[in-house]
Amino acid sequence: MIRPWLLGLGLLAARAAAQVTPVPAPPSLPDPLAAPRPRLIDLPSDLSPRVVALGTDEAANRHGDDIYQPQVGQPGKDVIWVPTPEPLIRAMLAAARVTPDDFVVDLGSGDGRIPIIAAREFGARAHGIDYNGDMVALARRLADRQGLRGKVSFQRGDIFESDFSTASVVTLYLLPSLNLKLRPQLLALRPGTRVLSHAFDMGDWEPDQVIRTDVATGYLWFVPARVEGRWAFEVQGQRFAATLTQKFQNLSARGGPLTSGRLKGNDITLALANGRELKGRVLGDDRMVGPGWSASRIAPR
Ligand SMILES: C[S@@+](CC[C@H](N)C(=O)[O-])C[C@H]1O[C@@H](n2cnc3c(N)ncnc32)[C@H](O)[C@@H]1O
Repeated sequence: MIRPWLLGLGLLAARAAAQVTPVPAPPSLPDPLAAPRPRLIDLPSDLSPRVVALGTDEAANRHGDDIYQPQVGQPGKDVIWVPTPEPLIRAMLAAARVTPDDFVVDLGSGDGRIPIIAAREFGARAHGIDYNGDMVALARRLADRQGLRGKVSFQRGDIFESDFSTASVVTLYLLPSLNLKLRPQLLALRPGTRVLSHAFDMGDWEPDQVIRTDVATGYLWFVPARVEGRWAFEVQGQRFAATLTQKFQNLSARGGPLTSGRLKGNDITLALANGRELKGRVLGDDRMVGPGWSASRIAPR
């Protein structure tokens, strides 16, 4: 069931699609806090107990701390601030199987809720980048008050000028056009890096998983290994050469018995004309191996 207040936030985010430069909020921007609000009993069950305990609708919509209270819908540089609902954050991080070995980077981190939940509940190291210095300071205070100093960090910066190449998980709640602008950088990350986006897709880079909750939808992609080119295969003693053509995680193959294939990070599945499959791993730039088969790169395509 779509709740009216969520629809309000969705419309607000869609309206922000037109906002590409740092402009103040247009006077006609709807006030999301004036939209019909759920009764407390309708709130997602995992809203923080502190908020629920306050016991008023206004309390449920209050953000920030004693020093700074951001307003939902306030202008950002390239997109307004609308926070991701916590149930979707948990569902997205769980879908990406975030662990203490991960480094989660939220691009446009707002009040820091995604890095904070990644660190507090999944044990990851996490980092947020936001253009708004007040939001960065707020996020730092909120993380510090939860004892997460050392686990979570925030920086004031423009996501389009920041280096996030060491992330193992990247999260976004931006706009379709901004996702597309970031796409080349995302695709250049280490194969297997997970990309999570709230609400917005990546155009023709189809998601590997759609994450639906009763509050909102998210998408998960695995940055695919780069295997386009010509390869020498040895499959159960038989040798042949084949050319792989790659479009994101999808492969088409010419040569030998191969017809097509698919990547999930470094995991590769190649389909054979007889209906069987070769499953294996891509190792670096030049080698793939699986049970009973291997391949070495001959040349880039
Ligand atoms: C829709 S909010 C998402 C906040 C947070 N990621 C979440 O999901 O709760 C987008 C955030 O991006 C920030 N932002 C907009 N343009 C930016 C830019 N070019 N660089 C860094 N942050 C930006 C805004 O200040 C805002 O906090």
